[in-house]
Amino acid sequence: MRWLGNKGPLLAEIHAAALKAGFKGGTVCDLFAGSGSVGRFFRAQGCRVLSTDLMNCSHVFQKAYLESDGAPRFEGLKQYWEQLSPAPQARLANLEEKTGESWIPFLKLLRYLEEGLPPEEGMLYRQFSAAGEAQRNYLSPENAARLDGILNQLRAWRISASLTENELCILLASCIDAADRVANISGTYGAYLKKMQGSAMRSLELRIPALVTGPVGVAHREDALEWISSVECELLYVDPPYNQRQYPANYHLPEIISLLPFEDSEQRLEDSIYGKTGLIPWKDKASPLCSRRGEECFQSMRQMLKEAKADIVVFSYSEEGILNRSELEQILQEWSGTGGASSLTLMEIPYRRFRSDAHKPQEPGVQKRTFRPAPGRSADEVHEWLFVATRDRSEEAVVDPS
Ligand SMILES: C[S@@+](CC[C@H](N)C(=O)[O-])C[C@H]1O[C@@H](n2cnc3c(N)ncnc32)[C@H](O)[C@@H]1O
Repeated sequence: MRWLGNKGPLLAEIHAAALKAGFKGGTVCDLFAGSGSVGRFFRAQGCRVLSTDLMNCSHVFQKAYLESDGAPRFEGLKQYWEQLSPAPQARLANLEEKTGESWIPFLKLLRYLEEGLPPEEGMLYRQFSAAGEAQRNYLSPENAARLDGILNQLRAWRISASLTENELCILLASCIDAADRVANISGTYGAYLKKMQGSAMRSLELRIPALVTGPVGVAHREDALEWISSVECELLYVDPPYNQRQYPANYHLPEIISLLPFEDSEQRLEDSIYGKTGLIPWKDKASPLCSRRGEECFQSMRQMLKEAKADIVVFSYSEEGILNRSELEQILQEWSGTGGASSLTLMEIPYRRFRSDAHKPQEPGVQKRTFRPAPGRSADEVHEWLFVATRDRSEEAVVDPS
């Protein structure tokens, strides 16, 4: 799905940086997993991946990408899909392996979810389509009602224990991705567009998520600042938020979709919705790494890195971020130390700016932001930093023989 800071386009650079620093495989920790694309990539390279993110919708992707083991069989739902013909093979387009009998149950289940289920005028229809009282134009009323029907069915199957947790996450990842492709937004969910754009009028289409094979990993929904002390790995990939935009306030609709099947009903979540864009309370998930207040971001990042137990750290940041280059170098240098095997290097990668407001949003008072590019750069060009730090861990390994 579209995710602010998705490193899908930089996987080759991240991989090359890790290899150059001496990474030979083993356990990889993806500390701010977001869309899950980095963890998925390293799993496909044969690594065991542990990951975390504060957002539930990210957790759903992480679980699908890291913890699934082959094609889901949906044994407990056989009565729904057995007699159906499979959805078109094109729905496998995201997969490396695009053929094979093993995916037939999934394709048949997609057929049921798309054609066997009636739409329902549920919470998404009421709260996130123009048909609702608040007129939040995020989804067409038709797509919102179809999603409501599908999510209510997933909840019913969860309650009756008809599918495994991993199967539920794979289906949910498919729903979030499908909703994202027809969402009437221009980047993040921080605002919806007044006029329905062409892509938002297309019919919701479920696809099989881009699952990969490789060692089974573990997905978490923990605060990275606390969780880091419990992890040990060969490679730590760090991709923190770099500006003041808090993810829970900009991805509330995928978050709500990811939560709905885990609730007993829609009621509790619907009662908590507020404001023009239909947020749910999120302040408990506000990240200090998005703070420009005093040294909050710097000290939080510094404290976090101090706890990191890894041989190599690859650290992504934008040159336009809250922390400047020398602050980041100081934090990484402190982690790396000054031993013989320790080092710190920086790669700069020209990158296209993420423009969430390329179209004018509907929110009254929201202005299109203007960017002042660095000298010699185009308006859309920004440099992504890739710091690579290594650390001599031999001293840590010395055991007192007495
Ligand atoms: C730049 S994005 C990561 C993008 C990701 N590497 C990808 O390729 O999609 C930063 C992520 O950090 C998460 N985040 C922010 N603060 C966090 C925290 N304290 N603990 C865990 N995750 C956090 C956000 O939810 C967001 O998904």
